[in-house]
Amino acid sequence: MQTVTIKNLTKNFGSAVAIDNLSLNIEKGKITGLIGADGAGKTTLLRTIIGLLIADSGEIDVLGFNPVTQKDELNLHIGYMPQKFGLYEDLTVIENLKLYADLKNVPHDFDKMLEFTTLAPFQDRLSGALSGGMKQKLGLACTLLGNPEFLLLDEPSVGVDPISRRDLINMVREMITPHTTVLWSTAYLDEAHNFDTAVVLDKGRVIYEGKPHDLAPTPQEFENKVIDLMGGYNKEESLIAKNYDYQAPNVELTVEADNLEKRYGNFYAVKNNTFKIKKGEIFGLLGPNGAGKSTSFKMMCGLARPTSGTARIMGIDIKKNPEKARANLGYMAQKFSLYGSLTVKENLDFFALAYGIKVLEKNKKVNEVIEVFGLKEYENYKAEELPLGLKQRLSMAAALIHNPPVLFLDEPTSGVDVLTRRDFWNHITSLAKKGVTIMVTTHFMDEAEYCDRISLFYKGETIAVGTPAELKQQAGANDMETAFINLIKESEVSK
Ligand SMILES: Nc1ncnc2c1ncn2[C@@H]1O[C@H](COP(=O)(O)OP(=O)(O)OP(=O)(O)O)[C@@H](O)[C@H]1O
Ligand SMILES: [Mg+2]
Repeated sequence: MQTVTIKNLTKNFGSAVAIDNLSLNIEKGKITGLIGADGAGKTTLLRTIIGLLIADSGEIDVLGFNPVTQKDELNLHIGYMPQKFGLYEDLTVIENLKLYADLKNVPHDFDKMLEFTTLAPFQDRLSGALSGGMKQKLGLACTLLGNPEFLLLDEPSVGVDPISRRDLINMVREMITPHTTVLWSTAYLDEAHNFDTAVVLDKGRVIYEGKPHDLAPTPQEFENKVIDLMGGYNKEESLIAKNYDYQAPNVELTVEADNLEKRYGNFYAVKNNTFKIKKGEIFGLLGPNGAGKSTSFKMMCGLARPTSGTARIMGIDIKKNPEKARANLGYMAQKFSLYGSLTVKENLDFFALAYGIKVLEKNKKVNEVIEVFGLKEYENYKAEELPLGLKQRLSMAAALIHNPPVLFLDEPTSGVDVLTRRDFWNHITSLAKKGVTIMVTTHFMDEAEYCDRISLFYKGETIAVGTPAELKQQAGANDMETAFINLIKESEVSK
């Protein structure tokens, strides 16, 4: 039995081909993973399946409905979680759940959902005040309400921590019936490896369709095979690092935090964050959703005022001299924060000028980052129209266009395809070799291995700090993911 049958589907946006004569069946009662490069057509395909977009040609049947002419009937049978799920930010967690339950006409029975999402202690918090990962979990919970027959999830695990990512999958598996069909788009290949079927898209075409295990038995082999299918990764010299003209710092400690603390009412988002980072170090802040990583970054960048404590960038106090300190850093926010209605090029022009790059140099610089980050064919797209992975590339480009000595990158690789992730890390490690200090957060545990040192953060506090090898040793683990899980469990026990 098929839930979706697609024949010769084509969808163009202007001169750009998003879906190219694609034929595909999605089997009932199975979890199908949708993977592919940034801009490969994943979101367009999902939207076309549920009738939000209308194809230029081809046929689609979804649960016996035509999504174009029978969109409303079809809607009653599906649960769709878009990349930017429509949470009501000025309603609390529980109010959002109630609202979606009412819309779907289902009872207010949320205990299991709240337990699965670990949102129970925060049910009265405004959803706008949740961390990025907590919002994803709430969005998924709202989508699952009412047990839809067909779930379409557009990168639900973006920004979700490794422990919760397992919980999300378990949550979906437990909440669905044997007849529920799930179409799950993801950039996490270890996740896709666990699904019944994998569909790999490239430039709007299906380049692989089958059991992930048939392609490769282990998650690592699967990742390598998918990379091969996508054209392979060739590590090249980082042009970003090569052309990074900057004044090498004359201080040894480039980033310092002294007892940084952030309180909201009685809640401590960050309790006591102290560390000293050396020139050229790659320092990773890891931790579960809501641990206080982004809040720490924002305080260190002078974007949120600490309740107490302070930070210094290149020895300059961020509280006393915010402008001077900020001139020394580049910040890439977790949430896309560039100008959505400006084009890619206009955004970069804006940031280049705002950071004081001279007009003559500006064009060269902007063209260079457009080239290096693979944005050439998108330079005239509005930023808000870009696929997620390309938004991340643009944000990264904007953060470093003025060549600062210190970079704060908050989940730079979330939602980015596997090839581009390697590319980003090639730039990061090459910049660090030139003496640029990099503060970074990630939920990809394989990326943690690229860090010189890591601080594991939990409930606003550092629970462990050291090199990746030291943390693994301390946790008695062979890999970072197990180390992460063990250290967090240990800290729970000792509390
Ligand atoms: N304005 C606010 N009011 C109340 N609580 C807040 C506010 N802003 C942030 N918080 C809370 O502070 C905590 C830390 O959030 P933060 O965004 O720093 O976490 P994070 O470690 O970056 O998580 P993630 O991995 O999900 O991005 C969360 O519990 C969040 O809900
Ligand atoms: Mg965060």
